[in-house]
Amino acid sequence: MRLEFRNIHKTFGQVHANNDVSFVVEAGTIHGLLGENGAGKSTLVKMLTGFISRDSGEILFDDKPVLIRTPVDGIRQGVGMLHQDPLDFPALTVLENFRAMAGGRWYTAADLRKLAAEFNFDLDPEEQAGNLTVGERQQIELLRLLALGVRTLVLDEPTTGISAHQKDQLFAAMRTLAGQGKSVIFVSHKLEDVEEVCDYATVMRRGGVVGSLPVAKGDDTLAARLVDMMFGRELALPSKPLTTTPTPALVLEDVVLEDERLSIHVPKFIAPCGEVIGLAGLEGSGQRLFILACAGVQAPSRGQIHLRAVNLTHKPYAAYQDAGVCYVPADRMREGLVPGLTIQEHVALRDGSGEFFLNTTAMQQGAERAIAEYKIRGTPTSFVERLSGGNQQRTQLALMPPDLKLILMEHPTRGLDIDSTIWIWKLLIDRCAQGATIMFASSDLDEIVQYSDRVLVFSGGQVSEPISTQGLTADRLGEMIGGKF
Ligand SMILES: Nc1ncnc2c1ncn2[C@@H]1O[C@H](COP(=O)(O)OP(=O)(O)OP(=O)(O)O)[C@@H](O)[C@H]1O
Ligand SMILES: [Mg+2]
Repeated sequence: MRLEFRNIHKTFGQVHANNDVSFVVEAGTIHGLLGENGAGKSTLVKMLTGFISRDSGEILFDDKPVLIRTPVDGIRQGVGMLHQDPLDFPALTVLENFRAMAGGRWYTAADLRKLAAEFNFDLDPEEQAGNLTVGERQQIELLRLLALGVRTLVLDEPTTGISAHQKDQLFAAMRTLAGQGKSVIFVSHKLEDVEEVCDYATVMRRGGVVGSLPVAKGDDTLAARLVDMMFGRELALPSKPLTTTPTPALVLEDVVLEDERLSIHVPKFIAPCGEVIGLAGLEGSGQRLFILACAGVQAPSRGQIHLRAVNLTHKPYAAYQDAGVCYVPADRMREGLVPGLTIQEHVALRDGSGEFFLNTTAMQQGAERAIAEYKIRGTPTSFVERLSGGNQQRTQLALMPPDLKLILMEHPTRGLDIDSTIWIWKLLIDRCAQGATIMFASSDLDEIVQYSDRVLVFSGGQVSEPISTQGLTADRLGEMIGGKF
């Protein structure tokens, strides 16, 4: 189905989030939607899917204007959106989830297996949804949307947090759907992904459309042109200078990390001051356990943890904070930020005056500093849930206290545009130069290779010895994650 956006406008208070957006998505194509954080991409696709209403303008399917006011209207018109965090029930099985949301028809396990097989998804209908990886939950969601008869599919940053294999499966599914004449809109910050899977790309900037262009395979100039359209200039990747010193910062001794599924033994691990350590592995391979233990959030079942010669073994989270540990979680809206609170209220939470009344002047000033320094598009009184995805991530990073000794992060640049990613890493490298040690987990292997000094690979219930990133490629790292050492 051919889809056209015609002169779409949307404002939120002062913000003109979509300003006269017009472009066409041809039937049977995959169309990339790119643009800096806050450019207006999610706003546009939310209007298409009926999650929010537009102020003016038209959406046309095969040249006929359509009215989509709610997500149910959207589904009726054949538009479905794959959410980054799928909307499922963790306590139900895959099959039960599928039935609950696939509208009307009674599916059997065999039906579901057959549907999954069409896309080479390996889903077990009897498995509990809570045990699945993000990528697998995404697969159920995709099958569900197809069962509902979706002909236009929107994916908003779907490749963050899924494995390389799941990404291949997802891209193959997108191609199959386009081959059936469906139109697919793919919102992404990853230029490699856009080059790999899209037929066309449209770039947005500050609410407007900069332009649309065809994506020809093997076009070396494409990435540079897209970057120029997005940011109006070239970007250069920073290389990490050597900031590592001989002084040990974090020392783990004979540590055992456990949850219901895993038990990982770390005989000895030393991270010096100024070093960046990347944690690589499929989601759920123990990286999170490792980070939570080093953050003092979840005590290891055995072993000793020291930071700069302070014994933190069995100490509460507050002792870790006092020792200069900061943990930036992956799920920013559930763990990192508090929905319903403004940026300045978050500053107050961080600074904690110790007095009964809040000092609103200090809160506001603190928030203004954070907004200016981290270039957050928002005001001190913006509610965090109303910020764009990338701006929520900036807010989370802006709330990091000064003078940290150990910074622990999960997917630090998830959802950030390329320019912001580069800039955040410059700030993080500065922290290393001041002596902080950084450990981060990321599903982006290029990011791990680019910025880490050493890598720990989590695979098959084990953690590797630290591996230097000198001469290491993302492909080689991918093999190690798959168990090929
Ligand atoms: N519900 C809302 N209330 C107020 N402002 C909003 C709301 N939703 C979005 N905005 C603002 O509209 C602008 C566009 O946001 P949008 O989420 O569409 O950006 P985006 O291109 O998806 O960015 P990102 O890459 O960071 O996800 C931003 O300035 C954002 O703060
Ligand atoms: Mg967005």
